[in-house]
Amino acid sequence: MSDAKNIPFLDLITPHAELEQELTEVFRRALSTAGFIGGPMVEKFETSFAEFCAVGHAVAVSSGTDALRFALMACGVGPGDVVVTVPNTFIATTEAISQAGALPEFVDVDQRTYNISVQMLERFLEKQCVRNSSGKLISLRNGRPVVAVVPVHLYGQMADMDPILELADRFGLIVVEDACQAHGAQYFSRKNDRWCTAGSMGRAAAFSFYPGKNLGACGEAGAATTNDPAIAAKIRMLRDHGQAHKYYHDIEGYNGRLDSIQAGLLQVKLAHLPGWNQLRRDRAVDYNRLLAENEAVVCPHEPSWSKAVYHLYVIRTQDRDGFMKQLKEAGIATGIHYPVPLHMQKAYASMHYSEADLPVATRVAAEIVSLPMFPQITSLQQARVVEQIRAITSTAPQSPKAFAVQPA
Ligand SMILES: Cc1ncc(COP(=O)(O)O)c(C=O)c1O
Repeated sequence: MSDAKNIPFLDLITPHAELEQELTEVFRRALSTAGFIGGPMVEKFETSFAEFCAVGHAVAVSSGTDALRFALMACGVGPGDVVVTVPNTFIATTEAISQAGALPEFVDVDQRTYNISVQMLERFLEKQCVRNSSGKLISLRNGRPVVAVVPVHLYGQMADMDPILELADRFGLIVVEDACQAHGAQYFSRKNDRWCTAGSMGRAAAFSFYPGKNLGACGEAGAATTNDPAIAAKIRMLRDHGQAHKYYHDIEGYNGRLDSIQAGLLQVKLAHLPGWNQLRRDRAVDYNRLLAENEAVVCPHEPSWSKAVYHLYVIRTQDRDGFMKQLKEAGIATGIHYPVPLHMQKAYASMHYSEADLPVATRVAAEIVSLPMFPQITSLQQARVVEQIRAITSTAPQSPKAFAVQPA
């Protein structure tokens, strides 16, 4: 829980205390039926979550990482393929690609939204790939076929999906959304002339219900969504040892099922998700207004085609470490998502990327700070965060409001 003096980065205690009775009832039901794996609680949650995402099928699995791995595999991504994604995401995005047997390759991000840059994706496909004699798109970096792109809807805001889908169409790529941070985010598709929900636009999509997410379980959980029944059926097999019927294994799969208790808990929380998302949006508007005059910080940019759900509220400032230290001394918790972009992680040293290859992601990683953001944060708490930021930045050397970065 939080008080006015110490402001947590995220308050996970209050929402659970508010729902304690309903959540406890889920445990009771599971104990009285001994239904721990699969069954009606999982099926009901899958139906409800598919409806929430305005998509045909949701398949509940054990984590967002498994959701992405199974979605990629079910879409046909396999050993030796290249999957294009961004470097400024949680490593689970690229772990899932590698676990499907494929190789991740990075393109840079847009300097205002921090999501995949459509221009950079187009440039990558046009200039850093060639068609071989059989018409396959081949990456010049590693000589492998480029088969898919994973746009990450970072911080709760969707990537610019229309042009991404158009490019994917033109180059014959599969699109799998990493929607692990974007439950309920919306995108206005100019092509379809309507708002679309995260998880409903790609061939498939992955969600995480890690406890701190906008919709979080009380443990590990995830889901894959798709409009294609064959892909949904394949994901169901992959999560359950490759079987559609008990002990008849068409393929080798994984143990990637969701516990019934987690499904039941998620069902209770799902009813509150639209309200919680709206509170996050309201609090983001408040931060934007309160920080608008501050020349030393850059607030998040929400294009007119986006309704973000602010899983994180991320600002940029030049003396990031000093800024965070002073907020910490004032009792205000912050975070960095993520301090080292994936192309600079030791785990990917063998790919030989340099900082200069992806300058926007590199620069942004050095300046981002995630401020306290959760549905129950009070106006008083927000005012204190902003007041502290004002005090810190008034003594800092002034820097231009827009920190322009030159793309590669
Ligand atoms: C962008 C992104 N992708 C994938 C994941 C993986 O989800 P999980 O932790 O549930 O495996 C996360 C979770 O943190 C994430 O933020």
